[in-house]
Amino acid sequence: MSMADAATKRGHIVMIPCMAHGHIIPFLALARLIQQRTNFTITTANTPLNIQYLRSALSSSSQIRLAELPFDAIQHGLPPNIENSENLPLARIIHLFHSSLSLEAPLHSLVSQITQEEGQPPLCIISDLFLSWANNVAKSLGTRNLTFTTGGAYGTLAYISMWSNLPQRKTDSDEFWVPGFPQNFRFHRTQLHRYLRAADGTDEWSRFLIPQIALSMESDGWICNTAEEIEPLGLQLLRKYLGVPVWSVGPVLPPDTLRGSKHRAGKEPGMALEVCMEWLDLKDENSVVYISFGSQNTISASQMMALAEGLEESGRSFIWVIRPPFGVDMNGEFREEWLPTGFEKRMKDTKRGLLVHKWGPQLEILSHRSTGAFLSHCGWNSVLESLSNGVPIIGWPLAAEQAYNVKMLVEEMGVAVELTRTVESVISGEQVRKIIEIVMDRQGKGKEMKEKANEVAAHMRNATKENDQEKGSSVRAMDDLVRNIFSSKAL
Ligand SMILES: *[C@@H]1O[C@H](CO)[C@@H](O)[C@H](O)[C@H]1NC(C)=O
Ligand SMILES: *[C@@H]1O[C@H](CO)[C@@H](O)[C@H](O)[C@H]1NC(C)=O
Repeated sequence: MSMADAATKRGHIVMIPCMAHGHIIPFLALARLIQQRTNFTITTANTPLNIQYLRSALSSSSQIRLAELPFDAIQHGLPPNIENSENLPLARIIHLFHSSLSLEAPLHSLVSQITQEEGQPPLCIISDLFLSWANNVAKSLGTRNLTFTTGGAYGTLAYISMWSNLPQRKTDSDEFWVPGFPQNFRFHRTQLHRYLRAADGTDEWSRFLIPQIALSMESDGWICNTAEEIEPLGLQLLRKYLGVPVWSVGPVLPPDTLRGSKHRAGKEPGMALEVCMEWLDLKDENSVVYISFGSQNTISASQMMALAEGLEESGRSFIWVIRPPFGVDMNGEFREEWLPTGFEKRMKDTKRGLLVHKWGPQLEILSHRSTGAFLSHCGWNSVLESLSNGVPIIGWPLAAEQAYNVKMLVEEMGVAVELTRTVESVISGEQVRKIIEIVMDRQGKGKEMKEKANEVAAHMRNATKENDQEKGSSVRAMDDLVRNIFSSKAL
């Protein structure tokens, strides 16, 4: 079947992202990509408050249908009205994960209803790697199951293999091999989040993740938010490990309709976009370090102090999206005592540093010519946003698959250096200063990283290029995915 045929055929796809903004946004972007090339109806299902968020984030002209799945946070031991990971400390996110199992029955009803109304089941259900129970719904209603991982190929493979195999338990050594990777690859115990380090198969993380990962590995195919050119090794290894088709359709970045102030609809920005942009406009090209640990993470109080000292000693300009330290309500008020005396005022008076409380306009900051490096937790969305703008990375992984992303960015891509790992490490201001110097240096390693980051950005542009003469690899993968989804109906 040609693309022209696929574009005229009707069909329905149901998508279900994990209850986290970092997953919902790429799912929406994927839905939009599918819709741009088909006549498919797309329904995105989630809990009521997440649907409310989606509604506020989508433009009014959006054709994406939204379906609420009834959910009662209190019944699952969660605080009232908490349906999204962003409002929970990491320790409680596992409860949100477990509570997602209660959505299986409502999803089943939704898909049955669509089947009744349309006289046939949807073409497929695309579910988040973390919600693979949706595959049970797909199976019982005779529709196809696809998994969308919002992570990269390398990081996702390391994550699923670590949780499925718990390789750290099979050795006393700090370094070990992880199934799915070449024999000579070594991962280090400190790259494992403390929950994984402690996992033995019976803890609450294992009890959720291990079966979900097993179900996802039995999906008909995977969709991955990466591109052939930027992750050749990761994709090769992931395909071999899974043994099913993996479509690399990325980078799937927030669609234009979601950019800017609406990107985080429902949340108050810590600072107006214009203020950040005017501040950056006054700076030299590639002279500013941007620092953010994402919407889900923060660092410890002593690390925060060291980071501030290092930044001040470096003499470089910076924008720091700052939140209360680990152990305190991350969304609460910021207290001056967490920073060196007079730090914020000094930075403001000298125009050396801009502190943005809570969250900032990340995409706009990263795409500004003055931004020269990104000190990041290396969540995959942040990695893509940085590299698509040719900005090299200082890695400080804190959770999930972030440490594996950093390993790949350092060893495979050469676009990053790692400052430290986890919220438990001890760092000094001197370490911070040194690493900033390396990355911001216009000679040597800094120059090399900048060139490589620009190259990755060019690869990303090529992968997503679409015009009369040529189609990039991710565009072709998207075409193939759509064809594949449609042709499965005939089976
Ligand atoms: C996904 O669908 C395929 C058939 O299309 C089926 O063989 C497989 O068991 C399904 N996976 C799960 C986890 O149900
Ligand atoms: C991107 O594509 C253009 C034209 O097809 C090609 O000349 C260029 O080398 C590609 N860039 C990279 C980084 O591969």
